[in-house]
Amino acid sequence: MNDFPSTFHAAVQRMFDVRDQVVVVTGAASGLGLAMAEIMAECGARVVLTDVNPAALEGAANRLRNAGLQAFSMELDVASAEQVDRVFERIEREHGAINTVFANAGIGTGGNLWSKEGKLESFSRDDWKKVIAINLEGVFWTMQAAARAMRPRRAGSIIVTASTAGLRAEPIVGYAYIAAKAAVVNLVRQAALDLAPFGVRVNAIAPGPFNTNIGGPGPRPAHVVEAFHRTVPLGRWAEPHEIQGLALFLASPAASFVTGGVYAIDGGALALSQCDAQDLEQDQWSE
Ligand SMILES: NC(=O)c1ccc[n+]([C@@H]2O[C@H](COP(=O)([O-])OP(=O)(O)OC[C@H]3O[C@@H](n4cnc5c(N)ncnc54)[C@H](O)[C@@H]3O)[C@@H](O)[C@H]2O)c1
Repeated sequence: MNDFPSTFHAAVQRMFDVRDQVVVVTGAASGLGLAMAEIMAECGARVVLTDVNPAALEGAANRLRNAGLQAFSMELDVASAEQVDRVFERIEREHGAINTVFANAGIGTGGNLWSKEGKLESFSRDDWKKVIAINLEGVFWTMQAAARAMRPRRAGSIIVTASTAGLRAEPIVGYAYIAAKAAVVNLVRQAALDLAPFGVRVNAIAPGPFNTNIGGPGPRPAHVVEAFHRTVPLGRWAEPHEIQGLALFLASPAASFVTGGVYAIDGGALALSQCDAQDLEQDQWSE
């Protein structure tokens, strides 16, 4: 293999220098949040992992610390605005000015169009409230706390984990999830306008299917796996580490002119004009 040209390392360091940034990640104990925390820490940032699940959070932070990385943990339920404010204040007290926030925590509760309970007239109101409280309100509380920290210092990057399901209908996920993800996409655009004069950038990542714990741990039902294979041009699910390049880019000087954007990372799924019509065939629905 050829050696890197002598300019390679200096160029990469200049573009992606996040050393000693203070980074906060919500929902960092698993999946995409953990992958984002890991790449930021590997590149030299001080990363505060936060999550509602204390045992998983400690395990994740310990793994990063054992690898010699600057990783800290604080329990946080993003559905509580008061907790979000308290934790952000504590992070600033203990670690200094916050540079980057990944508003990533989210759940996938609720039936989808393939199930009876996922139909419009029967979608559970409890599931609706639960998902909106975390996937929409939790993101908003997190963005507010981030803006409070960043606007006075006239610098910072806020990165929201949205979804391809916020950019189109997707029968495989539920009403509350679709609504929350569409809402956060527009929250990102509005916040980008609000904060641009202060040098704070706000962007969204819109992942397609990634192998995480979002639908619960363990293997997914075969028909779900197969549906994504058909509707993703690259023909597979992504692994969490595949989010890391985009996450690092949006947090880094390489993205200095990037704000108000929504970046799909979906194996080409959104390039299809709509989901495969087979996904809507009645005989696939459980009655
Ligand atoms: N995996 C995918 O295919 C996919 C696709 C598009 C978008 N997303 C989004 O990515 C984000 C991360 O999900 P993931 O796939 O890594 O799932 P995951 O279940 O592996 O990780 C989510 C983490 O969020 C935490 N969490 C849940 N509720 C919380 C709360 N109230 N406060 C704080 N933390 C909470 C969980 O404990 C968990 O550690 C979510 O916003 C999800 O909607 C995932």
